[in-house]
Amino acid sequence: MQTAERLTKIPPYLFMELRKKIAKAKADGVDVISLAIGDPVEPTPDSIIDALCVSARVPENHRYPTDEEKGMFAFRQEVSHWYGERYGVTLDPANEILGLIGSKEGCHHFILGCVNPGDVVLMTDPGYPAYRSSILMGDGEPYNMPILAKNNYLPVFEDVPLQIVKRARAMFLNYPNNPTGACATREFFDRVVAFAKTNNIAVCYDNPYSEILFDDQERLSFLMAKGAKDVGVELNSLSKPYNMTGWRIGMAVGNPELLAAMSKVKENTDSGIFNAIQFAGIHALKNETASIGNMISIYARRRALVLKTLAAIGIKFDPPKGTFYLWAPVPAGMTSIEFTNRLFEKTAVVVASGNAYGQYGEGYIRISLTVPDKRLEEAMTRIKKEFA
Ligand SMILES: Cc1ncc(COP(=O)(O)O)c(C=O)c1O
Repeated sequence: MQTAERLTKIPPYLFMELRKKIAKAKADGVDVISLAIGDPVEPTPDSIIDALCVSARVPENHRYPTDEEKGMFAFRQEVSHWYGERYGVTLDPANEILGLIGSKEGCHHFILGCVNPGDVVLMTDPGYPAYRSSILMGDGEPYNMPILAKNNYLPVFEDVPLQIVKRARAMFLNYPNNPTGACATREFFDRVVAFAKTNNIAVCYDNPYSEILFDDQERLSFLMAKGAKDVGVELNSLSKPYNMTGWRIGMAVGNPELLAAMSKVKENTDSGIFNAIQFAGIHALKNETASIGNMISIYARRRALVLKTLAAIGIKFDPPKGTFYLWAPVPAGMTSIEFTNRLFEKTAVVVASGNAYGQYGEGYIRISLTVPDKRLEEAMTRIKKEFA
């Protein structure tokens, strides 16, 4: 059977490989603790589930979703309200908001909506692996911009070769950043807008961790920057702030032309989000924002424990203040894979190896805080015993 050549360009999905490794060890009777995957273990707040149950009982909601690919107007209105409250950003629900089946879907449809075959698409290294896959599936050409600790993990646009800039038509950015946890600044946003405007580059600012921040880190939307709506869209999602990863609901907001292109892709791909889930999403955005604060305190406690353990085994660093990941350097003299393997063999604790996110991820590991407290404590005890 013929399968498409474009698929051969796409590397195996990182978590698939990890899942296989974990499954094998578990089958062998090993008590594996995975700190590799970012998927909240706490349940979705009860009131959101209740809202779903009520809406799921209404027969009209069993039909194709209202306004299909755009997302129902009431959902878009609530997104507009939420963006106003959380970020001070004004959005017109009529043409500046699109409902999504998660921000991951948005990444894909952004490429299909605005990239022609052979166009260069800028992304960061390290970065979220799905960007590369979306670019390749859309017949674009990915270009990696290194993001380094010395630059606070922000790309330096002046370092991108001129012939690449000339061919670049789109760019993915993501802060708070997976995997590094780094956060952007308002000043960086201004640089992004200027670079994108000068070079006619459409920006996809992927912001699903916008709410997952520690200490005094400022909550930011790219659309707070002057001119941002002229150059791009922002993706956001209910997955991380409301523990709703499995529900598949998010939004693209910003430039109406780009959103219309993404909407056209959606119109010809899927038929939108189940109405009952959109009603539950409206409820979450309207009533459950306080629960985000509870989750942040849980993650903050876990974060402190991991940092203390790493310090005890000689890994000391100044951690960025976003996302529920810690991006930590490996001990001197070891590669990411060597340390990850050693950790797994000696303690049965799985962490993600930094080089899986790009060559500039070498020398780091990513530790996820989305594990139950007891399991995290056990993992830290094992690590301390082995490495201290
Ligand atoms: C940077 C980034 N973008 C998008 C996603 C996907 O999120 P969603 O559940 O909204 O599709 C993730 C999930 O891990 C992510 O880390």
